[in-house]
Amino acid sequence: MQRIVVLNPKGGSGKTTLAINIAAYFAARGDATALIDHDPQGSSTRWLKKRKPPQLAIHSIAAFERDSRTTRAWQMRIPDGTQKIVVDTPAALDARTLPEFTRDASKVIVPVLPSDIDIHAASRCIADLLLVAKIKRVENRIGVIANRVRKNTLMFQSLMRFLEKLEIPVIATIRDSQNYVRAAEQGVGIHEMKSYLVKEDIGQWETLLAWLEPERVLMDQPPPLAEQPAPAAVPTAEIVAETTADPGAHDAKFIVS
Ligand SMILES: Nc1ncnc2c1ncn2[C@@H]1O[C@H](COP(=O)(O)OP(=O)(O)O)[C@@H](O)[C@H]1O
Ligand SMILES: [Mg+2]
Repeated sequence: MQRIVVLNPKGGSGKTTLAINIAAYFAARGDATALIDHDPQGSSTRWLKKRKPPQLAIHSIAAFERDSRTTRAWQMRIPDGTQKIVVDTPAALDARTLPEFTRDASKVIVPVLPSDIDIHAASRCIADLLLVAKIKRVENRIGVIANRVRKNTLMFQSLMRFLEKLEIPVIATIRDSQNYVRAAEQGVGIHEMKSYLVKEDIGQWETLLAWLEPERVLMDQPPPLAEQPAPAAVPTAEIVAETTADPGAHDAKFIVS
């Protein structure tokens, strides 16, 4: 069972957006998935309520609700057989409560927006994860996502410089895209939307998914060349267009380990 915690005390950095899209990705793939919402605003719980078949179900735990009719343990129980737990956390999280969230986390994802205020808040958050929650860099449990980026802007460059200095891997750079807004409205994740609409966004998720499941990437490696079918002839112009438009490849240079 893998527990993925999305965390950053700064509101609006993209925690809920990432949590619901990660949960939807795993559910769509057929993994038994639970989404725990610790934020009293209840945004990810509301998203889950919009989710309808044919979308595959995600088990909902509204941890922010205090239900006096049941015990806390009953409210928080994870169904048997759950493979992925995604945890959405509130803004303004007190550093002293961080260990509660990170103790059992396989991965902690910190989304950061390209703005001075957000960069400052993120450096605080990472420092707390290292010093208060006592996560060691070598554990490779913390990953930063540069969210809502517009590449080639000064602020983006300043964000990337800051992230490189942290020596925490930047596991994805995600563009500002209305597809995330639409997905949130419709109770789906971007991986469940029409692929021609979300091609660019999905490309940007590849490094994040590889970080979450490195063993899966190894399993997905293509067979040795000798066993591969002969490639179909593709006009050269098309190959060039595909290569230059591949955001995953472009992002790879931002990975700091
Ligand atoms: N990559 C993105 N592109 C476009 N809008 C985004 C993106 N990430 C987040 N948003 C929007 O920004 C707002 C805040 O995001 P949210 O995930 O709720 O942040 P948090 O949970 O950290 O407070 C939401 O309206 C969300 O739809
Ligand atoms: Mg939120």
